[in-house]
Amino acid sequence: MPDFSKTILVTGGAGFIGSHVVRLFVNKYPHYKIVNGDALTYAGNLENLKDVQEKANYVFEKVDITDEQSVNHLFEQYRFDAVIHLAAESHVDRSIMDPLAFVRTNVLGTVVLLNTCRNYWKNQYAGKLFYHVSTDEVYGSLGESGFFTEETPYDPHSPYSASKASSDHFVMAYHDTYGLPVVMSNCSNNYGSHHFPEKLIPLMINNIKNKKPLPVYGKGENVRDWLYVEDHARAIDTIFHTGKQGESYNVGGFNEWKNIDLVKLLCRIMDQKLGRAAGESEQLISYVTDRPGHDLRYAIDATKLHKELGWSPSLQFEEGLEKTVDWYLANEDWINHVTSGDYQKYYEEQYKH
Ligand code: NAD
Ligand code: DAU
Repeated sequence: MPDFSKTILVTGGAGFIGSHVVRLFVNKYPHYKIVNGDALTYAGNLENLKDVQEKANYVFEKVDITDEQSVNHLFEQYRFDAVIHLAAESHVDRSIMDPLAFVRTNVLGTVVLLNTCRNYWKNQYAGKLFYHVSTDEVYGSLGESGFFTEETPYDPHSPYSASKASSDHFVMAYHDTYGLPVVMSNCSNNYGSHHFPEKLIPLMINNIKNKKPLPVYGKGENVRDWLYVEDHARAIDTIFHTGKQGESYNVGGFNEWKNIDLVKLLCRIMDQKLGRAAGESEQLISYVTDRPGHDLRYAIDATKLHKELGWSPSLQFEEGLEKTVDWYLANEDWINHVTSGDYQKYYEEQYKH
């Protein structure tokens, strides 16, 4: 057995972003042992990691982060040097249906992990790190202009963003109160392969493919700042290795799109790829009841991460979107699997109006 120089727990490693982080770390750092700790909720899928599951430095452990005993047991077994914490309930619309699930995983689960790190590391903090992966949604909503910086006051509006804001505060409180070595990042909207089709881009790709209505909330005027998921995983790698403890870093692509323009761009790309007439898929667009408390605009200023740690995004949006569409068209089994069963029930409930 190789002697690993670090053992890292990646929580939520079977999810969308987590699987990209696990893949990057397993391949780039063969001398690290990567333990993917995930409860495998509807959003967790081990098929996302088929290509690394046999690697000597990768292990999967099924664990619910809200279960203190199981988390303790995992720490006893592996004696982690670091945690990269991505496990969360992550979909805003589901948080409106069931806020408590978000409080449990995002708030309680995070505090269970922080407590466990504190108990196991016992003030011997050299070489230890708790990395908390968070979101730009904690900053609330922007008007027509301006950007979120690390100094922007928190102003969450959805149960999801309120639960993430709360977890961010706990992470920083553990640093200030107990000296726990922490670092945090707040990222904008990700897109790419293995993205669960409840979120805008994969949902639209799937519906365009199947000629189903494309449900655009409100007037489609809301703006999001999109970043390719592999660029986010690279940012996490950079911040994990060179970020300053006790600090947070904003991650984003300076890539703002109105929802309606993005959906039309996807229609154009897919009409071409599927050999449909120009304009055919746009006819599927259907304006539906707006999301309650819908934030108007997110836009990240990632200058700190660029200037201090040298990270920048690598892909242009249209190139990233094309790669993403190609992945979904080539992976029908994946999409059929994740849209069977409970997904249909969720879809009917969410889009019934
Ligand atoms: P996801 O929903 O795709 O994956 C979440 C993963 O966490 C799943 O594998 C799920 O099984 C696991 N999980 C959920 N509850 C758990 C529990 N109680 N115990 C253990 N595992 C549990 O989420 P994602 O989009 O990959 O987001 C990952 C993280 O990044 C989240 O913390 C999210 O807030 C943050 N984030 C996401 C985005 C985005 O655009 N998707 C942007 C910025 C930040
Ligand atoms: O900004 C980072 C956040 O991005 C992450 O923290 C969240 O985990 C992630 O889900 C994402 O949140 P959003 O709410 O911005 O993403 P979503 O894909 O759900 O929606 C993007 C935009 O598209 C938003 O303005 C709502 C709109 N929308 C979404 C869906 C699912 C629609 O118009 N129709 C839809 O069917």
